[in-house]
This record gives sequence, structure tokens and C-alpha cells, in this order.
Amino acid sequence: HVDRQKPEIGQMDWEQLASTVANCTACPLRQSCTQTVFGVGDRNADWIYIGEGPGAREDAVGEPFVGQAGKLLDNMLAAIQLKRGHNVYITNIVKCRPPNNRNPGEDEARQCAPYLARQIELIKPKLIVALGKVAAQNLLGSQDSIASLRGKIHSFSGIPLIVTYHPAYLLRALPEKAKAWQDLCTALELMRALS
Ligand code: URA
Repeated sequence: HVDRQKPEIGQMDWEQLASTVANCTACPLRQSCTQTVFGVGDRNADWIYIGEGPGAREDAVGEPFVGQAGKLLDNMLAAIQLKRGHNVYITNIVKCRPPNNRNPGEDEARQCAPYLARQIELIKPKLIVALGKVAAQNLLGSQDSIASLRGKIHSFSGIPLIVTYHPAYLLRALPEKAKAWQDLCTALELMRALS
């Protein structure tokens, strides 16, 4: 007799995980979004960049960070000689677009967290970069402001984690770009030390 029981999320391979996410109904977000946005990039990447959740463009295309904020993220990556898909994986705290791009609710983020945790386990990145407050607070289980979370080396499941501003915020707050640049330099130095 064949055991058709699905494995626990923590035991899933990429295919099982991707199809479980695509068929997830654990929270109401799936009812209002077009499709789930799983993640994109190199599954053996040293770097993982984690945003908040899909926006309108991501929801339509099925790939994270493909809108305006995504263009800035690509430029941020390029500034430290990185490229989407090459040694970089990009995903979000929640895989479904929250209505009107509101922040994901606590329960929505909690329901989605095991998927991200498994992605990180499978990738085994050397460094995690949390983009913005929602990603940072959820990954670190913290309520602290982005100003107090950036500039430090945190850890998620034993993997070093750095916090920087969300590219969508940087588009509105140009002067903060200098700080994001500092964060990228810190991340790059850390990666060099880890390699
Ligand atoms: N903002 C995010 O946090 N994630 C995306 O994928 C796009 C915009």
C-alpha cells in the first residue's frame, strides 16, 4: 500500500513545498489574490532577500519584486555585484497579496511562516537580508523600529540576518538611501567574512 500522506512542511522538498503553497487556504488572503508568489532565484543561493508580500504587479506576474520597488531592489543588488537569480533568492513573508497592499495581519504572517522557514532550510543561505519593517519584525519576532533593528547583526535559525529599509520606502524617502547603502556594505563585508 502506498502512503499518500503529505509530509510535514518541515520535511517537504521544493516541489512539495511549492505545490502546497500554491494550494494553500490557511488564511483568507488566497481568496482575494490572483495567485501565490512563491519566490524566485537560485535555490543554492548564499543570499536571501525577504520582503513583505506581493503587490499588484507581483500578484499579476507571479514573481516577487517585479514592480517599481523591484527595480530599485535590482539596482541595490547590482550595487554590490549581485543579480536576481545568481546566488540570490528573493521571496516574501506572505505569499499572497494582501488587499490594497495593506500590511499582512499577524495571523496571516503566522500561517505563512512555516513556508518561508522551509525555503530557508532548503536554501541554507549564508546571509538573510530583511527588507523593511514587516519582514524584519516577523523574522525576528520583534516590535522594534527599523531604525533600531538596522546596523546590527541578528540571527534567524542560526543564520546571520541584516535589516535594511524596504525599497518601496526608499522610493519615497530618498535621503534614507545613504543608510541603505551602508547596510548593503555591511552585508557585503559580512558575506566576505563568512565565505
Ligand atoms: N514589496 C514586497 O515587499 N514584496 C514584493 O514582492 C513586492 C513589493
